[in-house]
Amino acid sequence: MTALKAIDKTTINIEKIRADFPILSRKVNGKPLIYFDNGATAQKPQQVIDRIDHYYSYENANIHRGVHTLSRDITIGYENARAAIQKHLNAANPCEIIFTKGTTDAINLVASSFSKRFISKGDEIIVSVMEHHSNILPWQQVCEEKEAVLKVIPINDAGELVLDEYNKLLNEKTKIIAIAHVSNTLGTINPIKEIISAAHARNIPVLVDGAQAVPHLKVDVQELDCDFYCFSGHKVFGPTGIGVLYGKEKWLNQIPPYQVGGGTIKTVSFEKTEYADIPLKFEAGTPDIAGTLGLATAIDYINEIGLDAITTYEHELLVYATEKLQKLQGVKILGTAKEKAGVLSFIVEGIHPFDIGTILDQMGIAVRTGHHCTQPLVAYYRVPGTVRVSFAFYNTFEEINVFIKGLEKAIIMLK
Ligand code: ALA
Repeated sequence: MTALKAIDKTTINIEKIRADFPILSRKVNGKPLIYFDNGATAQKPQQVIDRIDHYYSYENANIHRGVHTLSRDITIGYENARAAIQKHLNAANPCEIIFTKGTTDAINLVASSFSKRFISKGDEIIVSVMEHHSNILPWQQVCEEKEAVLKVIPINDAGELVLDEYNKLLNEKTKIIAIAHVSNTLGTINPIKEIISAAHARNIPVLVDGAQAVPHLKVDVQELDCDFYCFSGHKVFGPTGIGVLYGKEKWLNQIPPYQVGGGTIKTVSFEKTEYADIPLKFEAGTPDIAGTLGLATAIDYINEIGLDAITTYEHELLVYATEKLQKLQGVKILGTAKEKAGVLSFIVEGIHPFDIGTILDQMGIAVRTGHHCTQPLVAYYRVPGTVRVSFAFYNTFEEINVFIKGLEKAIIMLK
């Protein structure tokens, strides 16, 4: 397999960090929990839990609607949360940050609104083989509705995009590219900057699904020059039901609202409605206010540890686990890209991934098994699914040792 990049050892204060996550001290099936399913959702530090609790206990009111103190105060809190996300992604303006329910919601928003304005019969939309269903299905629907064509960037066996093929797909009919920053199943970190600059050379906008990147990597939307970027709160140690769509002002101003209703308007009459400016044009109804506050707290939390330290530490975990896993008889790792985030997908010859997942669960070890919402990708590898280990900064080398021993036991039991 391709060698993963060697890195300098780093230290993060793992005991202090683990103490912030109440769930990490619980037992599952009588064993200390080892949580290796961070790609599905990450655990929440006490700071995030407290922030949500505080909002409902002492601050609850609606935003952008009241002259009373509670409403004015929480409107400021909500907009401060937006500003915190803007700063975190280095977006040029807070109005480029739209709160959504999550990544799926954000991609649906762009697919629906962008296509209304910019996609016609015969146009082409590019995705890749490794996309999550959430970054395939909305575009597939657009193609059905508009009689447009979905084009797919292939991958090589290491799980890397074949960029020559990508470049060949670009043409005057291409209207948008929708691509994962990091593959949820393989961990591949895609060369987003290169993809964007090739697209921009032809004036084609790019949407980046950053759901698996934002928890692990520093993301600078101005440096990437992406047109749209989305991520989910619950994968970055924040609450479920909240997410972010970053969009360049020039695009958000050109596309129509996704859902309409309270909060999205300037004036309404039965003859004509004038919509609000961005971002409110895209935030119909009362939003998940608690979610935005919890998300901003989660972002503060990871910034306190530092994303460089997180990336480096998780890479150490990945290298350590990869070396151990490679030595096990019958184990094959899928996704051996040179640039990888902390995800390890594997199959064991002759054993179904569900069986391994079930036995590991008995040992208190949580992994994800199956197709990981990437059926075209697992079809490419001709497997029914994989066992997936996905790390976060609170995981430890000792947990990896326990997991490897547990996996060895599971293999013996199931052979
Ligand atoms: N997209 C999430 C995962 O990869 C749910 O597990």
